[in-house]
Order: sequence, then C-alpha cells, then structure tokens
Amino acid sequence: MGILEGKVVAVTGAGRGVGREIALLCAREGAAVVVNDLGGNAEGEGADLTPAQQTVDDIKAAGGKALVNGASVADPKGAASIVEDAVQAFGRIDAVVNNAGILRDRIWHKMSHEDWNAVIDVHLNGCFNVSKAATPYFREQQSGSFVHFTSTSGLIGNFGQANYSAAKLGIVGLSQSIALDMARAGVRSNCIAPFAWSRLIATIPATNEAEALRIERMKTMTADKIAPLVAFLASDASQDVSNQIFGVRKNEIFLFSKPRPIRSMQKSEGWTAQAIADEMLPAFRGSFADPGERSGDVFGYDPI
Ligand SMILES: NC(=O)c1ccc[n+]([C@@H]2O[C@H](COP(=O)([O-])OP(=O)(O)OC[C@H]3O[C@@H](n4cnc5c(N)ncnc54)[C@H](O)[C@@H]3O)[C@@H](O)[C@H]2O)c1
Repeated sequence: MGILEGKVVAVTGAGRGVGREIALLCAREGAAVVVNDLGGNAEGEGADLTPAQQTVDDIKAAGGKALVNGASVADPKGAASIVEDAVQAFGRIDAVVNNAGILRDRIWHKMSHEDWNAVIDVHLNGCFNVSKAATPYFREQQSGSFVHFTSTSGLIGNFGQANYSAAKLGIVGLSQSIALDMARAGVRSNCIAPFAWSRLIATIPATNEAEALRIERMKTMTADKIAPLVAFLASDASQDVSNQIFGVRKNEIFLFSKPRPIRSMQKSEGWTAQAIADEMLPAFRGSFADPGERSGDVFGYDPI
C-alpha cells in the first residue's frame, strides 16, 4: 500500500521538472493524479500539451491513474477546470500541489510591468486560483491538503527577481492565511522551497565565476528529491502539519523560521526621528540583517 492509496492529487506544472517528479511519485504512492501543465516556455509564452501528456503516459505505463489538463493556472476558469477534472474523473480531490512556475528575471530598473504581472499571475494568482477552486470540496469533506511552492529567492533574496521574490513571499502569506482560515475545516496548507536542477534554474544568468560554480553544483540536485516531502504533506501521515515552510535540497530537508522580533526598544516619552537616529540605530545596528545577503550566501555550501 502506498501512502496516497485512494487519494486524488492535482499537480500544476507537472509536465516538467519538479512537478513531473511529484506527479510520478504520487501515482506510485497510489494516488490518481491530475497532471496540469500549460507547456509554455520558461518565460510563460506559448502552450504545448506534449510534456503533460508524456507524464500521464509514463504514469499509465507504470500502472498508475492520471489524466491530462492543459489549462493555465493564471486563468481562474482554467484553474477551476483542474479541480473539476479531478472530481469528474476520480470522484474527489484530496490535495492540490501548486507547483507551476515561470521566470522573467530582470534587474530591477529594467523590469517592466509586463514582466511583473506575468510572474505574479502564474505564481501568486495561480496559487490563489487553484486553491480557491478546491476549497468548496475541501470544506465539504472536512479534509484537504495544499502544498505551495515558494523559493529562497523570496525567503532570503536574490538579484534580478523582484517579480518572482514578491510572488514567492506572497505565496507564504497566502498559505499562512489559508492554514489559519481553514484549520477548523480540517484543511492544511504548507510551503516548500525547493532546490532542483530544472530549466528554470538554467535561465539564471551566471555573472561571475562563483555563480557559474554554484550552477554546476546545482546540476547534481535532481528534481526527484523534492517529491517525497510533497507526497508526505499530501497524505494523512501529515494530518497535524500545517502553516509550515519547508525546504528540500538533494538529501537535505529544512524547516524555515518565520519572522519574529529579534530586538525591541521602548522609550517612555515616545520616539522622535532624531531619537531613533541617536538611540535606536546604535542599539539595533549589530542585529541588522546583512543588506546584501542572497540565497546563495545562506546556502553557500555543497549538498551531500
Ligand atoms: N528548481 C528550483 O531550484 C526551484 C527553486 C525555487 C523554487 N522553485 C519553484 O518550483 C516550482 C517548479 O519549478 P521547476 O524548477 O520544476 O520549473 P520547470 O520550468 O521545469 O517546470 C514548471 C512547469 O510549470 C509549467 N507552467 C508554467 N506556467 C504555467 C501555467 N500558467 N499554468 C500551468 N502550468 C504552467 C511549465 O510549463 C513547466 O512545465 C516553481 O514554482 C518554481 O518557482 C524551483
């Protein structure tokens, strides 16, 4: 018996990379899987059902259950069709994996409104759209699991990714709110920040030798390593796990902290701007976050 026997799982962006591996593993673990993928290029242009169909064919060839859905998660009606397809074909929906993604990396001063909107639409609005569509079913059956994909680009920081970082940190806020609002309906919501070699990572420009080296190391972090945590979070084995942010990188699993106050200072007569400069600044400066810190600085070591 697999850990997802009898469950129905919808995975967005499951034609390639991390999503494909999630769909394959969930099917091996016994779930019927809706394999959604628009099939556009890394910047989100175009559409092609071939990658999603390939995932479905591979699941079926291995004796699993799956169907293909080629909708865009950025389109509310398309997103709803992912959930409707699950219910129509397999009778229910137990877990939604919001994995679909694109990148339009541009240094901040060159980022257009179009670059901003396209990325927010697929990542943040896409998560909202698919989650919203599944919610009536989850409430009705008093159970359900959302697994959303975030990124250390949002949690920590990265160059040239204002659109992506904002979307990915927005997804953490969305997941947290869903977890709080839906707890009494027995519904859970968690985030994963993955590290995996995929075509999205291949678009990150290496601007110096250190970055080029890091990209070589990333090639050894294969996409299949992310799937077991997703299958666990989709299953009943994680019944009491909600509102958490995990990370996976090769054979490592991380639990991320949430922001908490790390210093406080009180002034009985209240603060003026000058008093802040004179008193708060020297007191807090030693605890300031490194203003130049990026994901690669925190995860600056080779995974085992
Ligand atoms: N690979 C990493 O190291 C890494 C790091 C941090 C976060 N992530 C996140 O993990 C997720 C998976 O990324 P990946 O690396 O496997 O990328 P990928 O490009 O290999 O796969 C993403 C898939 O999403 C699909 N997609 C894009 N827009 C869509 C839309 N509107 N509707 C439906 N499908 C759509 C694409 O066609 C593609 O097949 C993304 O959310 C990404 O932001 C990945």
